Amino acid sequence: MRTSHPATTDAAKIARQSTATQNTGVPQNGTAEIDIEAFLKAQDAKDQLRFITCGSVDDGKSTLLGRLLYDSKTVFEDQLSATATESKKYGTQGEKVDLALLVDGLQAEREQGITIDVAYRYFETDKRKFIAADTPGHEQYTRNMATGASTADLAVILIDARRGILTQTRRHSYIVSLLGIRQVVLAVNKMDLVDYDQSTFDAIFEEYVAFAEELNLAAVHAIPLSALTGENVFTPSETMAWYDGPTLMATLEDIELTGERAEQARERPFRLPVQWVNRPNQDFRGFSGTVASGSVSVGDPILASLSGKTSQVKGIVGPAGELERAVAGQAVTISLRDEIDISRGDLLAHPKSAPDTVDQFAAHIIWMDSDSMLPERTYVARFASDQTIARVTDLTHLIDVNTLDHLAAKTLGLNDVGYCKIALDRPVAFDAYKDNRQTGAFILIDKFTNATVAAGMIDFPLRRASNIEWHDMKVDKVARAAANAQKPCVLWFTGLSGSGKSTVADRLEQKLHAMGRRTYLLDGDNVRHGLNKDLGFTDQDRVENIRRVAEVAKLMVDAGLIVLASFISPFRSERQMARALMDESEFVEVYVDTPLEICEARDPKGLYKKARAGELKNFTGIDSDYEAPVNAEIVLNSGEVDPDTLADQIIAYLDSHA
Ligand code: ADX
Repeated sequence: MRTSHPATTDAAKIARQSTATQNTGVPQNGTAEIDIEAFLKAQDAKDQLRFITCGSVDDGKSTLLGRLLYDSKTVFEDQLSATATESKKYGTQGEKVDLALLVDGLQAEREQGITIDVAYRYFETDKRKFIAADTPGHEQYTRNMATGASTADLAVILIDARRGILTQTRRHSYIVSLLGIRQVVLAVNKMDLVDYDQSTFDAIFEEYVAFAEELNLAAVHAIPLSALTGENVFTPSETMAWYDGPTLMATLEDIELTGERAEQARERPFRLPVQWVNRPNQDFRGFSGTVASGSVSVGDPILASLSGKTSQVKGIVGPAGELERAVAGQAVTISLRDEIDISRGDLLAHPKSAPDTVDQFAAHIIWMDSDSMLPERTYVARFASDQTIARVTDLTHLIDVNTLDHLAAKTLGLNDVGYCKIALDRPVAFDAYKDNRQTGAFILIDKFTNATVAAGMIDFPLRRASNIEWHDMKVDKVARAAANAQKPCVLWFTGLSGSGKSTVADRLEQKLHAMGRRTYLLDGDNVRHGLNKDLGFTDQDRVENIRRVAEVAKLMVDAGLIVLASFISPFRSERQMARALMDESEFVEVYVDTPLEICEARDPKGLYKKARAGELKNFTGIDSDYEAPVNAEIVLNSGEVDPDTLADQIIAYLDSHA
């Protein structure tokens, strides 16, 4: 039998829990009883296996799913006839019905011949109901796979028998185990194309098992099959008589359900991520959201994790009216006995089993963007209901998905998995992913494109600088500004090398100085002689360069100075970060908009020439990006106007905004 992994860990640990509901403490009378009983019954009646399918583009994943749907008779007549028509148009099976077209629902993917989004397929047999998350196999679509995997009991990993185990097979398997899926069905497809050869199957199985031993999997079930002919999918293959294990369908029907079931979620500590504060009138203030785990009853003590304040549950309202108790999966509004400050993003919990509420943690992240991860860049981190600004402060290691080795790395590229420290700009309430998949997961979003760039699983909280507090000194920014008789601000000059930033800034400072203003000019080349002499010109180093300079500029504004900062600062993300450090009117972005051709013609330091000759790498405008500002307060045309006039232009701006 090849249906279990030789190195199986204690399967009992993951044994499916009883579906009994007697321990739920449902009240014995009152209207709430009917409501909750019905809810629990509906939840528990479903013996439902959730699985994801992973595979490379040509492994035959869609055909396999199509086969499962077709053979389980889930596909209706009209769908079949539509498929028959489409098969003629797009199919790869000649006059036969192309089963892949049953599941490749999107027009675009039909035309490209790839699957591009997660789709959930529902089908059932006499024994069980199934939800299959069909996840794309293309390398860049790992994101969708992670989405589909987070709730699954099991992963079906497809292998093309002719191609064997690929890097992507390993990557998918690693991510599957990272996401907490502990059972894998290795579907070795296209056996018909390798003459149903047992040794081919054996070799694949052995190679996979050797790799999977390192993963946190409980079992691997390997099945030789052909999605196209249907052999070992629904019906046992006569040709592969050497295989005496169950078919894919039989495996799916009989396998233990190891993903989290509703009744398990109910037994874990109570968590309600607050989605919104419901305030229909002066007398009622309720906190709405879906109970992520555990249960809550009227009279229970409640902790608002973000403020640390406690109260007691006064009332619970569900869609059908008042409830005595609510459990995981229910959408409710909770009112409290005391007026405590709670807003969207807070996590309601029981005071005795509180989540962590800190501003730093260690986590695995799966990078999903074609732009690499840059340490210290600010991203938006979105949690169960909260969101804030986050930075990867330390990339501890990158995981080589082929060997599972931990490698030193400075950045993560598309589909890379890394382990890192993440710092938030304020505390957020969360759990470790192993304790709670909902409150322990997060995504990172690019601030400008709004694209999801990473999916993360929190490992543990980190407490930093816990004995350090901010002191508000008696002599403050206002007092210092008054002593200097000026409005402190940062004039942030950005533009290409040779655009004239430093020249204009220098000219401006002279004028301000003559007017009796207290100023300081922070200049890129100068700062790189001292504070930032350890930094070069990679994207990562530029991010760190601007982060440090922005912090220094902030201190100088606090000191009551007018700061002139002159840096290429090529990325809008970091300019935005610098802006966000100051009060709104304190940051004035000055875009020195000189076309590349003019900068290159000027070439004051001969650097463009070197860059063009390939002697200088990562040169802005040549082989490193410059993202021009779109909303700069001041745009200077230094290609055509002289520095003196440009400096006057800035003074006019300052005067009109004094
Ligand atoms: S930034 O991109 O990190 O903001 P910064 O303004 O500090 O750059 O430094 C830019 C200056 O460094 C340029 O004016 C130029 O004199 C010098 N320099 C040396 N190498 C490079 C490079 N590869 N790209 C850009 N500037 C460079």
